[in-house]
Amino acid sequence: MQNIIKKITMALKLYMVSLGPGDVELLTLKALNAFRDCDAICVPTKSKDNSFTKSISHKIVTDALDFLGCTKKIIPVYSPMQFNKQDWIDEANIIIKASKEHGSICFVTLGDAAIYSSIYYLLDIIKQKDLSLYKNFEVIAGVTSFSAASAVAKKALCLGDEELIIKPINPRNDVRTTEILMRPKIGMDTERLGDGNFYTFENMYLDNEIITPSKIKTVSKYMTLFLKFAKRD
Ligand SMILES: C[S@@+](CC[C@H](N)C(=O)[O-])C[C@H]1O[C@@H](n2cnc3c(N)ncnc32)[C@H](O)[C@@H]1O
Repeated sequence: MQNIIKKITMALKLYMVSLGPGDVELLTLKALNAFRDCDAICVPTKSKDNSFTKSISHKIVTDALDFLGCTKKIIPVYSPMQFNKQDWIDEANIIIKASKEHGSICFVTLGDAAIYSSIYYLLDIIKQKDLSLYKNFEVIAGVTSFSAASAVAKKALCLGDEELIIKPINPRNDVRTTEILMRPKIGMDTERLGDGNFYTFENMYLDNEIITPSKIKTVSKYMTLFLKFAKRD
């Protein structure tokens, strides 16, 4: 009888890992697990020679690997941060090549990936160039610079009925707004939140999590939050 060897092919993962604002102690356990599980870590550097002498991200990653007691292949990703499409294409190409050569990859970004990070520009390009890798990406949330700043200042960012505004100091174009809508009343009709590009998050990361890519009609749980995303091209 012929032996049949089944080749188990594990899907290669791409973790977009938020590093927090600078202190390795502000990394999440999810970030540490991604570092432990991946085959290589892509780290942006502003240095043309691909050195990491000025890289805050590299320092956090090496501190994290020391903490985990493991070593990983570190791949520099030249990121001049000039808001230039060709730079993002070059960066995405490095990530795609790294996944082909090494396997599962982490790409790291400072603070939280939701806030002014290039990862979504890179992901748009990766989607066009390597759909199978794109299908296996995961974003790992992190501590934002302003959450950390609030903790350092020992002052709340919003209390009672206050709202919080995040503004780009030097916008290049018209400023569009994403709204985060929190603290609903149970039973409320969401009609008054208006229309737009909504997501609804109920019991996120908890039992009975429901993520709806639109606005639910009636709120049934206090742990509900809405994101009304800025209109993007
Ligand atoms: C490209 S944005 C990235 C923001 C980041 N993703 C976050 O969640 O905070 C870079 C800006 O974040 C702020 N920032 C990030 N880390 C910081 C830190 N450790 N201290 C002060 N400001 C910081 C500064 O305003 C900086 O110009």
